[in-house]
This record gives sequence, C-alpha cells and structure tokens, in this order.
Amino acid sequence: MQVITSIDELRTVRKTMKGMFGLVPTMGYLHQGHLSLVERARAECDQVGVSIFVNPTQFGPNEDLAKYPRDLARDLKMLEQAGVFLVWTPTPESVYPAGYQTYVTVEQVSQGLEGERRPGHFRGVATVVAKLFNVFLPDKAYFGQKDAQQAAVIKRLAADLNFPVEIVICPIVREPDGLAMSSRNVYLNPTERRAATILYRALSAAKTQFDAGERDANKLRAAMSSTLASEPLAKPDYVSAADPDSLVELERVEQHVLLSMAVRIGTTRLIDNFRL
Ligand code: PAJ
Repeated sequence: MQVITSIDELRTVRKTMKGMFGLVPTMGYLHQGHLSLVERARAECDQVGVSIFVNPTQFGPNEDLAKYPRDLARDLKMLEQAGVFLVWTPTPESVYPAGYQTYVTVEQVSQGLEGERRPGHFRGVATVVAKLFNVFLPDKAYFGQKDAQQAAVIKRLAADLNFPVEIVICPIVREPDGLAMSSRNVYLNPTERRAATILYRALSAAKTQFDAGERDANKLRAAMSSTLASEPLAKPDYVSAADPDSLVELERVEQHVLLSMAVRIGTTRLIDNFRL
C-alpha cells in the first residue's frame, strides 16, 4: 500500500495506474462503516484509493474540528489489511494554501436539515470532494447513506459539474444494538452510549407505522419525536420525513421517504436515517 502526502506525488502515481479506480473519501478514525465502502470498492474496481483528511472547511467555528478523533497508524493498518492500493493523507496547508479562495456551493439540496443547523458545512464538503475528484480522477466514488444529505449533495455536485465519476451510495453499517457506526461515537460515555440507541428505536417506531400503511408524514415525524421524548438524555435537533432526493419536507409520502434526525446525547451530536 502506498501512503502519499503530496498532491504532485499522488498525481504521478495515478498516471501510472490502469483499470477501474475507486475512491473512498474519509476523515479517518476508521470503523466498519468506512471499511464497508472499501470492500464495495474493492469488489467493483481494479484498484482502490482512500483519502484521510479532517477537512477544516466543513466544520463550524463551534464544532469539534480540534478534538475530532485521529489515529493514523491504526487507520493505515486497517486499510492495508483491506487491500487498499493507495492512501492520501494531505496536510490542511497543502489542500488550502495561503490565498485559497475558491468554494463550491450546491444550492438547494444543501439547505434544510444538516445544512440549516451547520451553516457552511456542505460548502466545505462539496469543495473538498470536488478537489478529491480532481486529484484522484476516480472512475467511481463511494459514500455512505449514513450521511444522507451529504450523499444527495455529492450526487448533485458530480452531475452539475460534469465530473466523470459514478457516485455509489452504500448502506448504513450499525452496531448490534442498532446504533449507526460513527467516528463520533467515541465521545459517548457508557450511559450516553446506551441512550444513543434511541435514534434507531425512534426510526424503527416510524418504520413500523409506515409498514402498517401510514403515509401521513406528520404522523411519521410524531412517531419519531415521541420515541425520542422517552429518553431523558436525548435532545432532538430535528426530526424529518423528506423527499430522499430534494430533501424537501413531505406532507404525504407518495413513494419514498427519508426519515432522518439529529439528536444531542450529552454534548455529542448524532445523526441517523432510514430510507423507506
Ligand atoms: P467520514 O465521516 O469519515 O465518512 C466517510 C464516509 O463513510 C462517508 O461517505 C460516510 O457517509 C461513510 N460512513 C460513515 N459512517 C458510516 C456507516 N455507519 N455506514 C456506512 N457508511 C458510513 O463523511 C465524511 O467523512 C466527510 O464529509 C467527507 C465525505 C470525507 C468529506 O470531507
């Protein structure tokens, strides 16, 4: 496995590569969710590249950039075992050198939900992903349904700016008790960790109603909210039943619905979703 820091070196190596190339962008502190993307890329591509970069432009001023968990040695061991061909670990100064001033904004789908609560977040995500596409020149790029709005933003970005890359969205990997895997789960103390299953339970409560034929989006949102209210440690930021592509809130579900939520457990903000 080649581990590369400089952009020039990455471009040089990329030029020598043949066949289908799959990219898995990450911020590191890897878990089975990230590895599921790598496994899918390995199955579909000749070679797989992974980026590990905690992207400062997607963090708000009061967010967890400084304390975001990092363990590069462990990440590299996991990626080597997973059969990754190359890993790019750039410095923030090389991605955003002095004088940097170009940003990508995906307009409508970045609004609402995460975009509304985290101003500038998707501008940072779209910008870094556009840069990753330009340096890696991947044939396919793999993202998780865990970050459903991010997936919608990136699909729009690739289509709108004609990036010659196929965007592949992979299912959410969960712990045995339903908690969606996340690098941020490490922030939870044991009591909070137990309480954090409430997101999955709230989504499941709404799914039970959906499966029984409920199509009134207000009722689905109410089912999530009332389940969240049963957990004293859970402070909901939003619950949503939206169109999975436009992310506009629904009144009635005609076909598909994205049930999603952001919930604070203590000081940790968790997100989760079901696509039905
Ligand atoms: P990060 O949070 O490290 O996640 C990297 C990729 O792993 C994302 O596509 C995310 O949706 C996916 N992922 C995370 N947890 C998952 C889970 N439990 N199951 C399946 N997939 C999961 O998302 C980012 O980094 C950044 O915003 C990035 C796209 C790298 C841009 O900086």
